[in-house]
Amino acid sequence: MGNQKGMDRMGELLPAHIGLIMDGNGRWAKKRGLPRQAGHKAGASTFKRIVRYANRLGIPYMTVYAFSTENWSRPPEEVRGIIALLREFLSDAANYRDENVRTRFIGDLSQFDQDIQSKVRECEEVSAGHTGLTLNIAINYGGRMELMKAARELAAEAAAGKITPEEIDEELFARHLYTQGQPDVDLVIRPSGEERLSNFLLWQAAYAEFVSMEVLWPDFDEKCLDRAIEEFRNRNRRFGGV
Ligand code: IPE
Ligand code: IPE
Ligand code: MG
Repeated sequence: MGNQKGMDRMGELLPAHIGLIMDGNGRWAKKRGLPRQAGHKAGASTFKRIVRYANRLGIPYMTVYAFSTENWSRPPEEVRGIIALLREFLSDAANYRDENVRTRFIGDLSQFDQDIQSKVRECEEVSAGHTGLTLNIAINYGGRMELMKAARELAAEAAAGKITPEEIDEELFARHLYTQGQPDVDLVIRPSGEERLSNFLLWQAAYAEFVSMEVLWPDFDEKCLDRAIEEFRNRNRRFGGV
């Protein structure tokens, strides 16, 4: 802490917005002969640890992929287990009260039980004034669904005569995304060796550097985040130029 936002202790540039696909829990458990839920549980502690570290580093924004719109297709027992972990996280107010992290949730929350929805609101309210890392936790999130939602809202505004179709530009469109007001994602990290986005932040990560790492999410530690940031710094970002 005490770092200038956007810079690390050495005054080196930090990514403004990191996207983190927390993948590999199932394989981690399988390797140990444990049920998949044990992997999700271990992944949940890793999540808390990495959030704390990202906040200390002075990362301004981080979005973590915790549950996708496609993950409902897993066996009901696994879905229930993941939701139980979400509930556990939300029930322990210390998770969002103590650190200076501003916690938000993105995704279609209407699919979750009322108690989860109200805990989510509480968590967002309690941490709204925090000035450290802004953390977006993506649950029942899908990039296509988010884009469709934005398109629908804009179409409704146009149909109501509030805007003309010509007024829709990138800036206005982005204001209809869950991440409105936040910088574009400039680094996407995916542990577990996979090299795909799996419907994560399709708009926001248009020009992100993608770093795939072999480590499985429950084993991801502070050094892994350091390495991904280092890799990001060494990339030559061109944005379509030369
Ligand atoms: C990520 O780990 C957690 C969620 C998708 C909720 P996985 O459960 O996808 O783990 P693998 O990919 O099967 O190893
Ligand atoms: C992406 O991981 C979703 C989350 C990490 C929450 P998946 O494991 O669901 O993605 P696929 O199925 O390998 O593409
Ligand atoms: Mg997976």
